[in-house]
Amino acid sequence: MQCPMMQNQRAGRRAAKAASQQSVASMRVGGRVCALRASVGRKAASAAQVASRAVSVKVNAIATIERPAGPAPTSSGGGAGTRVMIIGGDGYCGWATALHLSARGYEVCIVDNLCRRQFDLTLGLDTLTPIATIHDRVRKWAEVSGKYISLQIGDICDWEFLSQAFTSFQPEHVVHFGEQRSAPYSMIDRQKAVFTQTNNVVGTLNVLFAIKELKPDCHLVKLGTMGEYGTPNIDIEEGYLTVTHNGRTDTLPYPKQGNSFYHLSKIHDSTNMLFTCKAWKVAATDLNQGVVYGVRTEETMADPMLINRYDYDGIFGTALNRFVVQAAVGHPLTVYGKGGQTRGFLDIRDTVRCIQIAIDNPAARGEMRVFNQFTEQFSVNQLAEIVNREGRKLGLDVVVQNVPNPRVEAEEHYYNAKHTKLVELGLQPHLLADSMIDSLLDFAVQYRDRVRMELIKPAVDWRKTGVKVNTMGAAVAK
Ligand SMILES: NC(=O)c1ccc[n+]([C@@H]2O[C@H](COP(=O)([O-])OP(=O)(O)OC[C@H]3O[C@@H](n4cnc5c(N)ncnc54)[C@H](O)[C@@H]3O)[C@@H](O)[C@H]2O)c1
Repeated sequence: MQCPMMQNQRAGRRAAKAASQQSVASMRVGGRVCALRASVGRKAASAAQVASRAVSVKVNAIATIERPAGPAPTSSGGGAGTRVMIIGGDGYCGWATALHLSARGYEVCIVDNLCRRQFDLTLGLDTLTPIATIHDRVRKWAEVSGKYISLQIGDICDWEFLSQAFTSFQPEHVVHFGEQRSAPYSMIDRQKAVFTQTNNVVGTLNVLFAIKELKPDCHLVKLGTMGEYGTPNIDIEEGYLTVTHNGRTDTLPYPKQGNSFYHLSKIHDSTNMLFTCKAWKVAATDLNQGVVYGVRTEETMADPMLINRYDYDGIFGTALNRFVVQAAVGHPLTVYGKGGQTRGFLDIRDTVRCIQIAIDNPAARGEMRVFNQFTEQFSVNQLAEIVNREGRKLGLDVVVQNVPNPRVEAEEHYYNAKHTKLVELGLQPHLLADSMIDSLLDFAVQYRDRVRMELIKPAVDWRKTGVKVNTMGAAVAK
């Protein structure tokens, strides 16, 4: 069996190979993937034009799309010109954020190894929406907006790649979305648990070292999750808890209780970040994000080729997005267990805005700042009820079904999580009004012919996690 790191690097190389086959911006020389620096202008460059400007660089699994020669915008201390590296910028939250910031004049560089696309290929999954390749997305964005996003394809667990990406782009902020983010995926089997923790913890550790060694004043904006806190029987604070114990008082990191190997990887990330803020004076913002729903942002709807991914399957789909698709195709809404599980939620339009707020109001050097990034909390039963009510208004035949809970979690519990800090900095939440559900349902109905019913059911049981290497075929077939 190969070590996960090697598999990870191999996946990165395979992804780069796929990218190079799809893109005029890459070529293979002497068995090594070499990048062509391709300018992306309002008009897509022809292959011949690109080749004439080719410069090969010795970077592992890298394909770059960069702005044409000429002065780049300079930072004005936040806002336009600020250099923001978005790790995981080909993913659900990252793509929407990259476009949101680019549209507002930030200088954006996407870093991604495309492993999320590789998971779909390997496991037989697909997004509801037909998404373009990352190269085509970035070209189309240049065409639609006149803005340039540079692109670096590679694995952040690969230090050589990451350090070169850092050195060449010189980010003022790094927004780190680039992790394996599915709890069910991390619970399929031993190999995927090990991959998740290696990918996430090593990747974040490399980012912290890159900041320390190469750009010490770079602000890290890291995506954590509300799931790190678990469901304690007391209020959840934003990152820290003041405790009086045996007559002494201290403010300590809020206790974390992850409920999957994925959540546990995020907890380890937070611990490493806290330590490096103290030891190396890193400036970090840990955004404990709730469950994200929705798919439309102004920029991702600007052209069909910019459309975002929308996961509805039993591995990567999240609660509300899944219910909406289930309602659209006449599948019963799959409420796990008693349905009293309560979590924080937010609209993807608020995700992108929260990131901008964190960048515009950075943490100080040495500060490990924690924000709880969600706008409303709902139980699974409440979500099912809302989708049921609104789906029926649209003439959909919605049925709610309680299915055995594949997860190990409290199904009825106290939940009251604070989330005021981002609002104090200017977030104006998009709440889950009926109109939002209506437009999401409309969207799902529009694409319902692409839904594969066999991917909807829960595919991974926490109690049956084993040592065998499963394919999604095996997981889905269960
Ligand atoms: N989607 C949600 O509801 C949600 C909720 C809470 C927290 N989060 C967090 O937000 C972040 C983004 O989530 P998402 O839903 O956009 O996930 P996603 O899977 O759609 O995107 C993650 C991206 O990171 C890339 N990536 C992963 N490992 C990488 C590596 N080693 N090197 C380079 N690129 C790598 C993937 O290819 C993918 O494009 C994650 O850290 C996740 O934990 C998401």
